[in-house]
Amino acid sequence: MTTILFLVGSLRRDSLNARLARVAARELPEGYDAVFFDIGTLPFFNDDFRGEDTPEVVRQFRDAVRDADGVFITTPEHNYALPGVVKNAVDWASRPMLPRNSIVGTPMNAAVATISATNGIRSLSDLKRIWANCGGVTVNSFDFVLQSAPAKFIDQDGVETLEPASLKILRFALGNLERLIEHKAGEVIEANWDAFVENLK
Ligand SMILES: Cc1cc2nc3c(=O)[nH]c(=O)nc-3n(C[C@H](O)[C@H](O)[C@H](O)COP(=O)(O)O)c2cc1C
Repeated sequence: MTTILFLVGSLRRDSLNARLARVAARELPEGYDAVFFDIGTLPFFNDDFRGEDTPEVVRQFRDAVRDADGVFITTPEHNYALPGVVKNAVDWASRPMLPRNSIVGTPMNAAVATISATNGIRSLSDLKRIWANCGGVTVNSFDFVLQSAPAKFIDQDGVETLEPASLKILRFALGNLERLIEHKAGEVIEANWDAFVENLK
């Protein structure tokens, strides 16, 4: 089974991004398993809490990222940037940095759901840049921003999904993530990371 870890960048009860994540999880192909981790349970990042002082929930989160074959993040844009709750989660996952933090070699794709008709892309590009900087693998050539999102969700026989044009783009975004996993794109990034670590000696 190939495991995709879903992270949602909004803690709001009726979050559009939580709804988008649930739709995406249902769209995974056969042989894929969806796992969710609530990043709202993580404390604020504090580098004093390392080694034996690492909070249990942080350990669990790092294990979830490390154990996943890929990560799919749905997040809002807040004030033209990535929300703090997502940055906080990435900061926890990025430490300890050596020999490999939990993000190294992990493929990730993301989507932004926004009420705006024009914004959202900055959050997505922030996230991809930050993930890659931590040693992760991202889909850079294609972005999925679900703009005017409230109008894009539809009910299909009692199950929430997206209207056809948006659903097609969501499937494409998931397909890009699946290809990164299936082509083992993380291996070359891991090799580069290990060379970087070797150079530090
Ligand atoms: C503090 C704050 C800042 C926001 N800034 C942006 C923004 O820069 N770009 C944008 O597209 N939407 C922005 N929004 C609107 C969000 O798209 C909207 O609240 C959306 O529903 C958030 O996602 P959620 O439903 O998953 O919580 C902002 C909302 C809040 C609360």
